[in-house]
Amino acid sequence: MHFSIIKKKTNINDLLLEEKKLLVKNIYTTPSYFQNLFNQESIEIDFQHYPDLFREELVRLLCEKEILPHTESLNNLETLHEFLSDEMKAYNFDDGVNKISTYFYDTDENFLNIYYQFIRFLRKNFLREPFWFQATPTLRIHCPNAKNNHHYPRYHSDISYGHPPEEMNIWFPLTKCLNKHGFRTMSLAHSKKILEQFDYNFADFIDNAIHNKPFSNYCDTLSQIVTTEYGKMLAFDSRCIHTGEPLTSHTRISIDIRILPVSQYENMHLQYQGSGRRKVIFEPGHCYHQEHSDNI
Ligand SMILES: [Fe+2]
Repeated sequence: MHFSIIKKKTNINDLLLEEKKLLVKNIYTTPSYFQNLFNQESIEIDFQHYPDLFREELVRLLCEKEILPHTESLNNLETLHEFLSDEMKAYNFDDGVNKISTYFYDTDENFLNIYYQFIRFLRKNFLREPFWFQATPTLRIHCPNAKNNHHYPRYHSDISYGHPPEEMNIWFPLTKCLNKHGFRTMSLAHSKKILEQFDYNFADFIDNAIHNKPFSNYCDTLSQIVTTEYGKMLAFDSRCIHTGEPLTSHTRISIDIRILPVSQYENMHLQYQGSGRRKVIFEPGHCYHQEHSDNI
């Protein structure tokens, strides 16, 4: 009889501080999968009619959830804030999430069917190998002049919140870029420099990003506004530091997801887990859909 020994992976949160720092140093000083594949830190690609499909779904859900009276009531999503109460727009200061965005933690079959179509599009046109993908896409609705908007900016890389470095970030707007989207990213070189300044201690970096205003202002000088046009998606190396920032005149709606090549997942020696309230595990059937891109 043959027995195979399945070695349990060490959880990222069980590493000692020095081990964590060494890991982060390694992540930021060796080329990533993204970098090797695309030879750059971010790329923008046209993704055809998908923004229109997501936008239609969003308006339908806004009506079904009785946030909008009827689909014709809205000329454009950039003015959605005019239909929302202050309570819907206000951010929870701790996590920077507003009530209107929480309505989309749960979508429905129709919305998810569009999402799976989009995943198949990515498989064909972006990453030509199977990948795990975020089970529920993150839909964000940012409104101008919302209460507690001083939560932002809150600079971070998703890795600094516990995500695997082998992930790739994908972000796209469902609203037009009216001067800006209220989203900033930092180059990989500057992101590396910042982490080096903190001796690769993520906890110190995050603590300063939240509580040290001069440091946050310094990050403003190193980052750029994202100007990805409606109809395009932005993919970036997960090591790049980024943040949302308050809007003043229009509503920004965007979707962000993370994908992880199956080949990379199989080589991972650690179990990654979110450091937030929900302690999300970055594994299939948890954060990621239980089926990868080729089985949906
Ligand atoms: Fe992020």
